[in-house]
Amino acid sequence: MKTIEAILTRKSVREYSDKPIEEEVLQTILKAGQAGPSARNRRDWHFLVVQDSATLKNMAGLIGLLVASPLLHAKMAILVLGDEKLSADDFWKVDCSIAAQNMILAAHELGIGACWIGTFPKEGKMKIQKEIFHLPNHIIPHSIITFGYPKDDTNFFSVKEGKPILEEDKIHREKW
Ligand SMILES: Cc1cc2nc3c(=O)[nH]c(=O)nc-3n(C[C@H](O)[C@H](O)[C@H](O)COP(=O)(O)O)c2cc1C
Repeated sequence: MKTIEAILTRKSVREYSDKPIEEEVLQTILKAGQAGPSARNRRDWHFLVVQDSATLKNMAGLIGLLVASPLLHAKMAILVLGDEKLSADDFWKVDCSIAAQNMILAAHELGIGACWIGTFPKEGKMKIQKEIFHLPNHIIPHSIITFGYPKDDTNFFSVKEGKPILEEDKIHREKW
């Protein structure tokens, strides 16, 4: 699959099959996460891999099922964490976003669905993760990405339906 095809066919997947994610696949996803650019090459991210279903369900309950239901059936979640000590200024916020999207795209190409569970800048969600995982003060929860083989993979690699991907009114040439 070409990169552009992965980008254009990716969509949030919130329901997963029982098939576990193989360790070598996880390694590829983690590598993709750390392959992205980072401000001043500080690589100011950490990834916390959670595969224990009781922990995933606990996180879902504490964060709230309205937004965190993908955690209930995910085979795995990766917490993307910023490292304030490593970061140049506050660029961990940007670097972690790039890492997260790289992992989502890598997973998609490998046939694995993913969903971003927003964390930063929501103080409540950040606090919950800090407490569950006893994170040091300089480690800031940025996002949670859930992963799993899709429960229904019928349209997994098809272009998204609905509104067109490219919204012309958001494209500005030479001037606003
Ligand atoms: C910063 C961010 C936070 C998000 N938070 C959630 C979330 O808490 N729960 C959820 O189910 N989806 C979440 N999403 C996924 C979006 O709802 C989804 O990307 C958007 O509706 C577009 O759909 P698509 O990913 O299928 O293109 C989040 C996405 C981003 C980028």
